[in-house]
Amino acid sequence: MVAKPPLVPHAKPLIGHILNIWQDPLKFFSSAARTAPLSRIKIGWKDACLISNHELLYQILVPDAKKYDKGIQYERARAMLGNGVLLAEGDLHFRQRRLMQPMFNKPSVNDYIDAMHTYSTAMVESWAGRDVVELYPEFYRLATRVVIDTLFSTEMSDADVELVREKMPIVISGIEKRGALPPRLFDIIPTSENRAFHSAIADLRALGDRLVDDRLRADRASGARADLMNVLTDTDDEVTRKDNDRAQILNEFLTFLTAGSETTPSAMAWCCYLLARHPEIQEELRAEVTGFDMDANGSVQAIFGLPLLQAVIKESLRLYPPVWALGRRTLGTTSLGGHELPPGTQVFYSVYAIQRDESVYEDPDEFKPRRWLDDPKKYPRTAFLPFGAGVRNCIGEHFAWIEISIAVLNILQRYQMALQPGQQVPPAAMGALVPGALPIRLRAVVPR
Ligand code: HEM
Repeated sequence: MVAKPPLVPHAKPLIGHILNIWQDPLKFFSSAARTAPLSRIKIGWKDACLISNHELLYQILVPDAKKYDKGIQYERARAMLGNGVLLAEGDLHFRQRRLMQPMFNKPSVNDYIDAMHTYSTAMVESWAGRDVVELYPEFYRLATRVVIDTLFSTEMSDADVELVREKMPIVISGIEKRGALPPRLFDIIPTSENRAFHSAIADLRALGDRLVDDRLRADRASGARADLMNVLTDTDDEVTRKDNDRAQILNEFLTFLTAGSETTPSAMAWCCYLLARHPEIQEELRAEVTGFDMDANGSVQAIFGLPLLQAVIKESLRLYPPVWALGRRTLGTTSLGGHELPPGTQVFYSVYAIQRDESVYEDPDEFKPRRWLDDPKKYPRTAFLPFGAGVRNCIGEHFAWIEISIAVLNILQRYQMALQPGQQVPPAAMGALVPGALPIRLRAVVPR
């Protein structure tokens, strides 16, 4: 008999660690990480595991991926996303991912650069004359418009964007909370939070339904440019057609709306916060991007060729990974870290805690973008996983990276960013890792 992984301290009878997770999830996962590389936590009276070591995390995501399904958090998301590619398992996932992948490779991302640049230029130009801008909502609007325009050729109205901004965080934080509770406990209690969660899902699915209908009608009328919708619908392949009935198209639309709107704004906001907190790095980066002409040279290759910009984004994704905690569930009896996990064991991991592991990163809590330039081979690939890894890694990784780069570049070319005196910006970890309030002081850059 192999001993169970050690229990993280302070589990309470019946509720286990639920209160600790709810009260301060980042603190809980970060301090629990010190228990052992693989430890045990109590979700109510049930055992779950917590991975706090990057090699074990890589093991479940890459070589052992087939031994796990996506588990409890993802099940809670099904009411919103159905069988979209984020939640699909097995053959359906394989087929949908293969079908969509070309739309996210670098040459396709090149085609999205115009839209990303146009929307982000409009955003920064709308700040003219303002001293202070609350960044996160601005980035949320930007990312929502970009993902739906590039992938579904749909320009969203202001009212629709605001609906997403209002309702999506309710859904995502509701899913996150439900992921840390015994099955269905939430759903049988008719609290106002519960009602808000279900009505937000209904509102977003209704919005998706309307936009999908409009888009399909527009395609029939005008033969619009090829986009992800065309990839899903224009096919002679019978299996692809069957997979992508109208219900599945809505699931995919909502999957990309969710994945694209909840993550990149958080990454952009943390990146700008860190630059505002470190004016010397901001100036160094401004020197790199000043004179970079997006209209003439804005390609994936050229943008990835800006070393400090990429290092700054990488370091902010290390410190503040938007998708900060996730999980998997064992399908059969599975060996992990010297333990045998029974079938159905929920395994959680916090990329936030893992990417601040002091045995890997010196000064793990410090913003030091140059660490990625001075000795890029120093850090194991497995210790930087904000986009996941393996067959379920983020399909939108290049998309997101370029979108964030363009937004940051456009801001730095026009404005100096600064924090308010004494301003603290604690991360809120419900759903994506977002800054609470993030008012940033802006000063127009004087052209050299
Ligand atoms: C900074 C921004 C982003 C971050 C940090 C991020 C992070 C992630 C992570 C960690 C996963 C893997 C989940 C898992 O292993 O269970 C994932 C999956 C996914 N992401 Fe992203 N994401 C970002 C932006 C985007 C964007 C912009 C899109 C779409 C344009 C997107 C679409 C997806 C999809 C569809 C999946 C599911 C892939 C699959 O299961 O095959 N993401 N993302």
